[in-house]
Amino acid sequence: MPSQESEPLYGGRRPGRVTVRDIAAAKTRGEKWPMLTAYDALTAGIFDEAGIPVLLVGDSAGNVVFGYDTTIPVTIDDLIPLTAAVVRGTKRSMVVADLPFGSYQASPAAALQASVRFMKEAGAHAVKLEGGMRVAHHVEELVGAGIPVMGHLGLTPQSVHAFGGFRVQGRGEAGDRLLHDAKALEAAGAFAVVLEGIPSPLGARITEALHVPTIGIGAGPDCDAQVLVWQDMAGLSPRSPKFAKRYADIAAVLRTAASEFAADVASGAFPTEEYSYR
Ligand code: KIV
Repeated sequence: MPSQESEPLYGGRRPGRVTVRDIAAAKTRGEKWPMLTAYDALTAGIFDEAGIPVLLVGDSAGNVVFGYDTTIPVTIDDLIPLTAAVVRGTKRSMVVADLPFGSYQASPAAALQASVRFMKEAGAHAVKLEGGMRVAHHVEELVGAGIPVMGHLGLTPQSVHAFGGFRVQGRGEAGDRLLHDAKALEAAGAFAVVLEGIPSPLGARITEALHVPTIGIGAGPDCDAQVLVWQDMAGLSPRSPKFAKRYADIAAVLRTAASEFAADVASGAFPTEEYSYR
Protein backbone atom coordinates (compact mmCIF):
# COMPACT_ATOMS: atom_id res chain seq x y z
CA MET A 1 0.00 0.00 0.00
CA PRO A 2 1.67 3.27 -1.08
CA SER A 3 1.92 5.95 1.61
CA GLN A 4 -0.16 9.10 1.21
CA GLU A 5 3.00 11.10 0.55
CA SER A 6 4.09 8.86 -2.35
CA GLU A 7 0.81 9.49 -4.21
CA PRO A 8 0.80 12.32 -6.76
CA LEU A 9 -0.75 15.52 -5.40
CA TYR A 10 -2.90 15.79 -8.50
CA GLY A 11 -4.51 12.65 -9.95
CA GLY A 12 -3.43 10.20 -7.25
CA ARG A 13 -5.60 7.92 -5.08
CA ARG A 14 -4.97 9.78 -1.88
CA PRO A 15 -7.34 9.48 1.06
CA GLY A 16 -7.89 12.46 3.36
CA ARG A 17 -6.91 16.12 3.22
CA VAL A 18 -3.77 17.25 1.48
CA THR A 19 -1.18 18.33 4.05
CA VAL A 20 2.00 20.37 4.06
CA ARG A 21 3.94 17.08 4.05
CA ASP A 22 2.30 16.06 0.76
CA ILE A 23 3.22 19.43 -0.72
CA ALA A 24 6.83 19.09 0.39
CA ALA A 25 6.94 15.56 -1.06
CA ALA A 26 5.68 16.84 -4.43
CA LYS A 27 8.62 19.27 -4.61
CA THR A 28 11.02 16.45 -3.85
CA ARG A 29 9.49 14.39 -6.69
CA GLY A 30 9.62 17.39 -9.06
CA GLU A 31 5.84 17.15 -9.56
CA LYS A 32 3.88 20.14 -10.86
CA TRP A 33 0.46 20.81 -9.37
CA PRO A 34 -2.54 23.16 -9.76
CA MET A 35 -4.11 25.55 -7.26
CA LEU A 36 -7.30 27.58 -7.72
CA THR A 37 -9.10 30.21 -5.73
CA ALA A 38 -12.54 29.38 -4.29
CA TYR A 39 -15.05 31.47 -2.37
CA ASP A 40 -18.16 29.29 -1.90
CA ALA A 41 -19.09 25.71 -1.02
CA LEU A 42 -20.50 24.53 -4.37
CA THR A 43 -17.65 25.74 -6.56
CA ALA A 44 -15.10 24.53 -4.02
CA GLY A 45 -16.78 21.11 -4.04
CA ILE A 46 -16.40 20.89 -7.82
CA PHE A 47 -12.70 21.80 -7.65
CA ASP A 48 -12.23 19.30 -4.81
CA GLU A 49 -13.80 16.55 -6.94
CA ALA A 50 -11.62 17.62 -9.85
CA GLY A 51 -8.63 16.84 -7.63
CA ILE A 52 -7.28 20.37 -7.15
CA PRO A 53 -5.04 19.79 -4.12
CA VAL A 54 -4.97 23.33 -2.73
CA LEU A 55 -7.74 25.94 -2.75
CA LEU A 56 -7.04 29.54 -1.80
CA VAL A 57 -9.76 31.73 -0.37
CA GLY A 58 -8.03 34.78 -1.79
CA ASP A 59 -8.59 38.40 -0.90
CA SER A 60 -9.21 38.58 -4.67
CA ALA A 61 -12.74 38.06 -3.32
CA GLY A 62 -12.56 41.86 -3.11
CA ASN A 63 -12.65 41.97 -6.93
CA VAL A 64 -14.60 38.88 -7.94
CA VAL A 65 -17.11 38.56 -5.07
CA PHE A 66 -17.50 42.05 -3.61
CA GLY A 67 -16.92 44.16 -6.75
CA TYR A 68 -14.10 46.41 -5.52
CA ASP A 69 -11.29 47.62 -7.83
CA THR A 70 -8.57 46.42 -5.46
CA THR A 71 -8.17 43.96 -2.58
CA ILE A 72 -7.48 46.74 -0.09
CA PRO A 73 -11.01 47.16 1.38
CA VAL A 74 -11.37 43.45 2.18
CA THR A 75 -11.62 42.57 5.89
CA ILE A 76 -11.25 39.44 8.01
CA ASP A 77 -15.00 39.50 8.62
CA ASP A 78 -15.58 39.45 4.83
CA LEU A 79 -13.39 36.40 4.35
CA ILE A 80 -14.26 34.23 7.38
CA PRO A 81 -17.69 33.11 6.08
CA LEU A 82 -16.28 32.44 2.59
CA THR A 83 -13.43 30.39 4.04
CA ALA A 84 -15.80 28.41 6.27
CA ALA A 85 -18.00 27.68 3.23
CA VAL A 86 -15.03 26.43 1.20
CA VAL A 87 -13.91 24.17 4.07
CA ARG A 88 -17.46 22.77 4.41
CA GLY A 89 -17.70 22.19 0.65
CA THR A 90 -14.51 20.14 0.38
CA LYS A 91 -13.16 16.79 1.56
CA ARG A 92 -9.66 16.60 0.20
CA SER A 93 -8.28 20.00 -0.80
CA MET A 94 -6.12 21.95 1.63
CA VAL A 95 -7.88 25.28 2.20
CA VAL A 96 -5.60 28.31 2.54
CA ALA A 97 -7.04 31.57 3.90
CA ASP A 98 -5.61 34.88 2.68
CA LEU A 99 -4.85 37.43 5.40
CA PRO A 100 -6.39 40.69 4.13
CA PHE A 101 -4.68 44.09 4.02
CA GLY A 102 -4.34 45.65 7.46
CA SER A 103 -4.88 42.42 9.37
CA TYR A 104 -1.23 41.41 9.82
CA GLN A 105 1.23 44.15 8.78
CA ALA A 106 1.38 45.87 12.18
CA SER A 107 3.17 43.06 14.05
CA PRO A 108 3.72 39.31 14.35
CA ALA A 109 1.12 39.40 17.16
CA ALA A 110 -1.45 40.96 14.80
CA ALA A 111 -0.68 38.25 12.21
CA LEU A 112 -1.18 35.58 14.88
CA GLN A 113 -4.48 37.06 16.04
CA ALA A 114 -5.82 37.23 12.47
CA SER A 115 -4.63 33.71 11.60
CA VAL A 116 -6.11 32.21 14.76
CA ARG A 117 -9.51 33.58 13.71
CA PHE A 118 -9.23 31.87 10.30
CA MET A 119 -8.17 28.57 11.89
CA LYS A 120 -10.76 28.53 14.70
CA GLU A 121 -13.78 30.26 13.14
CA ALA A 122 -13.43 29.05 9.53
CA GLY A 123 -11.45 25.81 9.85
CA ALA A 124 -8.69 26.97 7.47
CA HIS A 125 -5.72 24.63 7.16
CA ALA A 126 -3.14 27.33 6.39
CA VAL A 127 -2.86 31.08 5.84
CA LYS A 128 -1.19 33.24 3.19
CA LEU A 129 0.32 36.70 3.59
CA GLU A 130 2.07 39.13 1.26
CA GLY A 131 5.64 40.40 1.63
CA GLY A 132 9.25 39.26 2.05
CA MET A 133 11.90 40.15 4.64
CA ARG A 134 9.51 42.61 6.28
CA VAL A 135 7.11 39.83 7.30
CA ALA A 136 9.71 37.14 8.04
CA HIS A 137 9.17 37.53 11.81
CA HIS A 138 5.41 37.36 11.28
CA VAL A 139 5.88 34.04 9.46
CA GLU A 140 8.13 32.72 12.24
CA GLU A 141 5.52 33.65 14.84
CA LEU A 142 2.76 31.80 12.97
CA VAL A 143 4.85 28.74 12.19
CA GLY A 144 5.92 28.65 15.85
CA ALA A 145 2.25 28.61 16.82
CA GLY A 146 1.61 25.62 14.53
CA ILE A 147 0.06 27.50 11.61
CA PRO A 148 1.26 26.59 8.10
CA VAL A 149 2.12 29.75 6.14
CA MET A 150 2.20 30.39 2.40
CA GLY A 151 4.22 33.45 1.34
CA HIS A 152 3.42 35.76 -1.58
CA LEU A 153 5.98 37.89 -3.47
CA GLY A 154 6.23 39.98 -6.62
CA LEU A 155 3.18 41.90 -7.81
CA THR A 156 1.46 41.63 -4.45
CA PRO A 157 -1.94 43.29 -4.99
CA GLN A 158 -2.16 44.77 -1.47
CA SER A 159 0.80 47.02 -2.45
CA VAL A 160 -0.75 48.21 -5.72
CA HIS A 161 -0.58 51.88 -4.73
CA ALA A 162 3.07 51.60 -3.68
CA PHE A 163 3.84 50.01 -7.07
CA GLY A 164 1.97 52.77 -8.93
CA GLY A 165 -0.40 50.26 -10.54
CA PHE A 166 -0.51 46.59 -11.45
CA ARG A 167 2.94 46.28 -13.05
CA VAL A 168 5.41 43.44 -13.39
CA GLN A 169 7.88 43.35 -10.48
CA GLY A 170 11.43 42.04 -10.08
CA ARG A 171 13.03 43.30 -13.29
CA GLY A 172 16.79 43.94 -13.15
CA GLU A 173 18.33 44.28 -9.69
CA ALA A 174 14.91 44.08 -8.05
CA GLY A 175 15.04 40.39 -9.02
CA ASP A 176 17.93 39.84 -6.59
CA ARG A 177 15.90 41.43 -3.80
CA LEU A 178 12.95 39.15 -4.56
CA LEU A 179 15.22 36.10 -4.46
CA HIS A 180 16.51 37.31 -1.09
CA ASP A 181 12.90 37.79 0.11
CA ALA A 182 11.95 34.28 -1.05
CA LYS A 183 14.88 32.77 0.86
CA ALA A 184 13.89 34.78 3.96
CA LEU A 185 10.34 33.38 3.79
CA GLU A 186 11.67 29.84 3.40
CA ALA A 187 14.07 30.33 6.34
CA ALA A 188 11.17 31.66 8.44
CA GLY A 189 9.28 28.41 7.80
CA ALA A 190 6.88 29.17 4.92
CA PHE A 191 5.76 25.87 3.29
CA ALA A 192 5.29 27.45 -0.17
CA VAL A 193 5.68 30.83 -1.86
CA VAL A 194 3.36 32.39 -4.43
CA LEU A 195 5.23 34.34 -7.12
CA GLU A 196 2.99 36.82 -8.90
CA GLY A 197 3.67 39.02 -11.94
CA ILE A 198 7.43 38.56 -12.33
CA PRO A 199 9.59 37.72 -15.39
CA SER A 200 9.71 33.98 -16.18
CA PRO A 201 13.51 33.69 -15.79
CA LEU A 202 13.21 35.08 -12.25
CA GLY A 203 10.41 32.60 -11.51
CA ALA A 204 12.76 29.82 -12.65
CA ARG A 205 15.67 31.19 -10.60
CA ILE A 206 13.66 31.41 -7.37
CA THR A 207 12.12 27.95 -7.95
CA GLU A 208 15.59 26.47 -8.40
CA ALA A 209 16.89 28.21 -5.27
CA LEU A 210 14.09 27.17 -2.88
CA HIS A 211 13.47 23.81 -1.23
CA VAL A 212 9.79 24.68 -0.76
CA PRO A 213 7.49 24.88 -3.81
CA THR A 214 6.86 28.08 -5.72
CA ILE A 215 3.34 28.70 -6.98
CA GLY A 216 3.31 30.91 -10.06
CA ILE A 217 0.69 33.34 -11.27
CA GLY A 218 2.21 35.23 -14.17
CA ALA A 219 5.64 33.94 -13.13
CA GLY A 220 6.36 31.59 -16.05
CA PRO A 221 6.30 27.85 -16.64
CA ASP A 222 9.11 26.79 -14.31
CA CYS A 223 7.33 27.31 -10.99
CA ASP A 224 6.45 24.11 -9.12
CA ALA A 225 2.73 24.91 -9.13
CA GLN A 226 0.38 27.33 -10.91
CA VAL A 227 -2.57 29.23 -9.43
CA LEU A 228 -5.37 31.17 -11.12
CA VAL A 229 -8.40 33.05 -9.86
CA TRP A 230 -11.16 30.63 -10.86
CA GLN A 231 -13.35 33.28 -12.52
CA ASP A 232 -10.41 34.15 -14.81
CA MET A 233 -9.69 30.47 -15.51
CA ALA A 234 -13.33 29.67 -16.35
CA GLY A 235 -14.20 32.85 -18.26
CA LEU A 236 -16.55 34.51 -15.77
CA SER A 237 -14.44 37.65 -15.24
CA PRO A 238 -15.17 40.33 -17.87
CA ARG A 239 -11.44 41.08 -18.16
CA SER A 240 -8.54 38.94 -17.09
CA PRO A 241 -4.79 39.47 -17.02
CA LYS A 242 -2.45 38.34 -19.83
CA PHE A 243 -1.24 35.34 -17.81
CA ALA A 244 -4.73 33.91 -17.18
CA LYS A 245 -5.71 31.30 -19.79
CA ARG A 246 -9.50 30.95 -20.10
CA TYR A 247 -10.52 27.28 -20.10
CA ALA A 248 -14.26 27.91 -20.53
CA ASP A 249 -16.77 30.66 -21.24
CA ILE A 250 -18.94 30.41 -18.14
CA ALA A 251 -20.18 33.97 -18.64
CA ALA A 252 -21.70 32.98 -22.00
CA VAL A 253 -23.27 29.83 -20.52
CA LEU A 254 -24.89 31.84 -17.68
CA ARG A 255 -26.03 34.62 -20.02
CA THR A 256 -27.72 32.09 -22.32
CA ALA A 257 -29.34 30.24 -19.40
CA ALA A 258 -30.67 33.50 -17.88
CA SER A 259 -32.04 34.70 -21.26
CA GLU A 260 -33.74 31.37 -21.99
CA PHE A 261 -35.29 31.31 -18.48
CA ALA A 262 -36.54 34.88 -18.92
CA ALA A 263 -38.02 34.10 -22.34
CA ASP A 264 -39.79 30.97 -20.98
CA VAL A 265 -41.27 32.95 -18.06
CA ALA A 266 -42.42 35.73 -20.40
CA SER A 267 -44.05 33.26 -22.82
CA GLY A 268 -45.58 31.08 -20.08
CA ALA A 269 -43.48 28.09 -21.20
CA PHE A 270 -42.15 27.74 -17.63
CA PRO A 271 -43.17 26.17 -15.34
CA THR A 272 -44.81 23.16 -17.01
CA GLU A 273 -46.48 20.23 -15.13
CA GLU A 274 -43.07 18.68 -14.69
CA TYR A 275 -41.96 21.57 -12.49
CA SER A 276 -45.21 21.99 -10.52
CA TYR A 277 -46.82 20.33 -7.45
CA ARG A 278 -50.30 18.74 -7.46
O1 KIV B 1 -6.09 36.74 -3.60
C1 KIV B 1 -5.75 35.89 -4.45
O2 KIV B 1 -6.57 35.29 -5.15
C2 KIV B 1 -4.32 35.61 -4.58
C3 KIV B 1 -3.90 34.72 -5.70
C4 KIV B 1 -4.15 35.31 -7.00
C5 KIV B 1 -2.51 34.24 -5.54
O3 KIV B 1 -3.55 36.08 -3.81
